[in-house]
Amino acid sequence: MTTPPRILLDCDPGIDDAFALLCALRFTELAAITTVSGNVSINNTTRNARYLMDLAGADVPVHRGASAPLLVEGVAADEIHGSSGLGNLATPDSEHPESGLDAVDAILQYCADGDATVVATGPLTNIARALQKDPSLPERISHLYWMGGGTEGGNVTDRAEFNAWVDPHALDITLRSGISLTMFGLNLTHQVLMGQPEIDALRAARTSTSSVLADFLEFYRENGALHVEGQPMHDPCALLGLTHPDLFETTKSHIVTSTIDDEDRGRTFVHEPQTNVEHYVAVRADAPRVIDLIVQAAINPTPVA
Ligand code: RIB
Ligand code: CA
Repeated sequence: MTTPPRILLDCDPGIDDAFALLCALRFTELAAITTVSGNVSINNTTRNARYLMDLAGADVPVHRGASAPLLVEGVAADEIHGSSGLGNLATPDSEHPESGLDAVDAILQYCADGDATVVATGPLTNIARALQKDPSLPERISHLYWMGGGTEGGNVTDRAEFNAWVDPHALDITLRSGISLTMFGLNLTHQVLMGQPEIDALRAARTSTSSVLADFLEFYRENGALHVEGQPMHDPCALLGLTHPDLFETTKSHIVTSTIDDEDRGRTFVHEPQTNVEHYVAVRADAPRVIDLIVQAAINPTPVA
């Protein structure tokens, strides 16, 4: 049995982030969680991450991050994720302490020894701030797996995906930084649709996590309503792209974005690969097997032996 990869997860929970977090607990050695404002406010994303630690019985440090994008006004997606960020749940107070180290210093500390793997499922504000604080950071990150962007249109505008659009300057800094990364964009995540069959499977499992995650998925499906078959399960794709690479196909590319506040803000443009740029775009997923892993983790987030 191979050793699970050690990661830092930067996220904005958020319902699909919650599924990604449980996948991280099951399939990786989750060393740290950093939170960012995105789907909902930094207070709520941080509160939700701490609550999810209680729910999963996990003890991973949670580090509070950026309360707003680098330069543009912050927005929220509470119509999709609910006012708390976790559907109809009024997230209970958590016993899980919030770390005294903020997200940027947690990222720099986690990457200090080099060869670090980072998964990001929200706007890239924390990553960009860490790069601004220490421009040598890319030398110590082996790969960044990011849910965001896409090659076939957007979901917050018709051209830009939410995580990219919310903080286009953070995305631009990250793409120009030299970090080796894979983009799991909407073109990929819309292949991975979860709906009633998965809700039924989670309810039938009757574990402490599965019934709560079934509620989240029910809210997400009712408020997303993008596809008849179900709602794209975005964030777990980036995590599983690391832990189960055989379930994904990627192509080497050169990704750029626009920070101009017009119709192309946050759009991800995919160009021919360049030798000195390690960018990859995820283009295909084995959706049934990916969905099965997501359901497994939502039922039982205990690390696989
Ligand atoms: O566009 C989808 C992405 O935006 C997901 O990460 C979702 O959680 C939101 O952050
Ligand atoms: Ca997210």
